[in-house]
Amino acid sequence: MTSDLPVLSLKGIRKTFGAILAIQDVSLDLGAGEIVALVGDNGAGKSTLIKIVSGVHRPTSGQIHLDGSAVVFSSASSARSLGIEVVYQDLALADQQPVYMNLFLGRELTIPPLALLNKSRMRKETQELVEELDVRIPSVRSTIRDLSGGQRQGVAIARATHWASKLVLLDEPTAALGVAETAKAEELILSLKDRNLAVLIVSHNLDQVFRLSDRICVLRRGRQIGVRETAATSKNEIVSMITGVD
Ligand SMILES: Nc1ncnc2c1ncn2[C@@H]1O[C@H](COP(=O)(O)OP(=O)(O)O)[C@@H](O)[C@H]1O
Ligand SMILES: [Mg+2]
Repeated sequence: MTSDLPVLSLKGIRKTFGAILAIQDVSLDLGAGEIVALVGDNGAGKSTLIKIVSGVHRPTSGQIHLDGSAVVFSSASSARSLGIEVVYQDLALADQQPVYMNLFLGRELTIPPLALLNKSRMRKETQELVEELDVRIPSVRSTIRDLSGGQRQGVAIARATHWASKLVLLDEPTAALGVAETAKAEELILSLKDRNLAVLIVSHNLDQVFRLSDRICVLRRGRQIGVRETAATSKNEIVSMITGVD
């Protein structure tokens, strides 16, 4: 098996909502250990594309291939079961629950035969993960609502890191964070490369896009305007691709 085979391959993806054409003919490959940024103005179709790849929406037409095989996601959990994890801007965690329960939300470890929650094991695995990733939280027993925005996003990225075997999707993961918190989140996002995961990140922050990405895919009104190697383009070029103005 060659490592040249893309982890994710989108072929001619199109999505309509009634009369609205949200995505038109998007084709994109992502390799293992690669970060691709998805940029575009409001309404360009970025979140819709993330939702298609995470199984929330079905494309109207086009194909999704994972490691070379065509896949059809019936739901977000079917995408998850194939190794795809998502991190959203709005910190989609269970507020009333401790960190370790959030790490295992919907995938709790249990003890047979009565399927009691194996809390000590979940705490231990969470502790190991937050130490390894250097996510700075008071304790794995801390309740999510008592954490800062940066700590919560750290937990969300740690959860994605733990469960993703192929692909992590991030939709504006630092939009709600301050400067120092953003820097920490960016460190975590870069560490996904070392785990050989493919990463697709939506960001409005072009400085961030240039710090993190290997390639940049520009959408405008649902159309794919182009894909550039980050090292071979400039903010000026990307801005003019986003706006359509030279
Ligand atoms: N569930 C939906 N129903 C109807 N229209 C939608 C839905 N989701 C997105 N759209 C429309 O699709 C287009 C792309 O939206 P979106 O993907 O959210 O853009 P972006 O994330 O780039 O701002 C917009 O015109 C938006 O109004
Ligand atoms: Mg969006």
